[in-house]
Amino acid sequence: MTELKTTEPASVPVWEHFDNVDAGIRRRIAVENPEIKTYLDETLARIASHRAVEHPLLNAYRTTAFEPEQERRFFSECYYFFQYLPFYITGMAIKTRDEMILREIILNVADEVGGETTHSAVFAGFLSRLGIEREQLAEYEPLEVTRQLNDGIRRLYTESSIYTALGALYADETMSSIMVSKINDGLANQGYDEDVRHFWTLHIDVEVGHSNSVFNAIAPYVESAEARAEFEAGAFEFLRLVENYWDGVQRLVSATP
Ligand SMILES: [Fe+2]
Repeated sequence: MTELKTTEPASVPVWEHFDNVDAGIRRRIAVENPEIKTYLDETLARIASHRAVEHPLLNAYRTTAFEPEQERRFFSECYYFFQYLPFYITGMAIKTRDEMILREIILNVADEVGGETTHSAVFAGFLSRLGIEREQLAEYEPLEVTRQLNDGIRRLYTESSIYTALGALYADETMSSIMVSKINDGLANQGYDEDVRHFWTLHIDVEVGHSNSVFNAIAPYVESAEARAEFEAGAFEFLRLVENYWDGVQRLVSATP
């Protein structure tokens, strides 16, 4: 399993986890121009070290247990963060006529909804194991930053250029591969067994594959400075929204007895 731990020696660059994946996980397609790979690797490292990814709340949760009401709010906010994301990713396809990009988008979404049980159903099952049921979620009022994050992702994926959309998705999937690992650690620290944590352990590797799909989709397009600027604008706008989200969730959790 590809574990992304901050305790690893600094000598192992973060992109090596993405270059070397287990069977069944989407691989990076080799790029001829080494400068393109370096650019995408370095962008990945900038994403991975961003405060939205190395957020104090997520890092603290790995070793500090929540009270039951803090836990309920934390995961209810996650529900409204993740809601509809496969629809937004699919919407990205209309921005391109390149079948190679379409293919990477489809592979991503197929992981989410193509199995016997969709990942949103697996997530609902996880929430239910924590005692958070659908009816409660329907009544739950998410934070304004959570609405802004979800709607911001929709805009980035469906109303921006394909380069900006792919930049946002590169940040999303790379961030997510690290976030799920931290949340999984936190849940284990709370005493939840493998069975309860299934949604999170499942995604540790899957999200690395999704980041690799974006690598494959964007690699032919990031020779020019203009394309890179659009790609990075998407990545860092995505991370800004996520950073605001975690700051808001941190305030909410702190204010919850
Ligand atoms: Fe993903």
